[in-house]
Amino acid sequence: MKKSSAMAAASCAPIPLRESNTSLPFSPLRISSDLALPSYLQQTYWWAYLHPYGVRFFERQWLVNAILWGNFAKLRDAALAAMGMPITGQVLQVACVYGNLTPKLADRLAPGAKLHVADVAPVQLLNLQKKLGRRANVCLHHQDSTRLTFDDGQFDRVLVFFLLHEQPAGVREQTIAEALRVVRPGGQVIFVDYHQPVRTNPFRYLMVPILTTLEPFAMDTWRTEIADWLPESFQPAEMHKETFFGGLYQKVVIIR
Ligand SMILES: C[S@@+](CC[C@H](N)C(=O)[O-])C[C@H]1O[C@@H](n2cnc3c(N)ncnc32)[C@H](O)[C@@H]1O
Repeated sequence: MKKSSAMAAASCAPIPLRESNTSLPFSPLRISSDLALPSYLQQTYWWAYLHPYGVRFFERQWLVNAILWGNFAKLRDAALAAMGMPITGQVLQVACVYGNLTPKLADRLAPGAKLHVADVAPVQLLNLQKKLGRRANVCLHHQDSTRLTFDDGQFDRVLVFFLLHEQPAGVREQTIAEALRVVRPGGQVIFVDYHQPVRTNPFRYLMVPILTTLEPFAMDTWRTEIADWLPESFQPAEMHKETFFGGLYQKVVIIR
């Protein structure tokens, strides 16, 4: 059990604050000076997620859609549909996502529901804050997915959208364990990520050089089922997997 942060999350000030350096006056976002950027993010993905020019370049709907070969809206909507309409309760999105996933999720929240987004990169949180504008039902958190400070079972739904393939093996398993820890029994965790395409899908061959060059951990999602990364002691109440675009993408919904 982590130290209690439920009260703080409800009031949108969820982490112990050492330092606040937000540049936008209306924001409740707090940046913790104690939280280091993971080495894989600095070494492998700095150009995509950390460099300000990278953030400015990639924050385009058409571009993120092109990176997913035109499947962004389909995958976004599959994730949102899994949460129901309207989306009720406390929702956690682990890691920011370029494009309109988070605004669409926020638009679907039922009265009284709340979306929390946790990301380890301040530049990403600030970018998301700008993208969202002022919304009382969204709360941003500067946190590492491998050691969330939320309480056990604090959320009704947790969404992890295209994060697992960017993380090295041990880190990925910790992220999954944390996502499962912070969701309540009967709540859902939704993973959307890469997957090994069927043999007849040309992207099975085209994507190998792209992924191995740009995303060195991504091929793990082709070789291993997400189910195989769950903690040994975890027994899901339900688990459903669906694939898209000839198997190149997957959505896995786990009910705790
Ligand atoms: C969700 S993934 C990729 C999403 C998708 N490819 C897109 O178009 O945005 C990228 C995000 O994950 C965040 N991230 C990576 N490792 C993290 C970690 N350990 N904890 C929290 N956020 C992390 C990065 O800072 C970045 O904002």
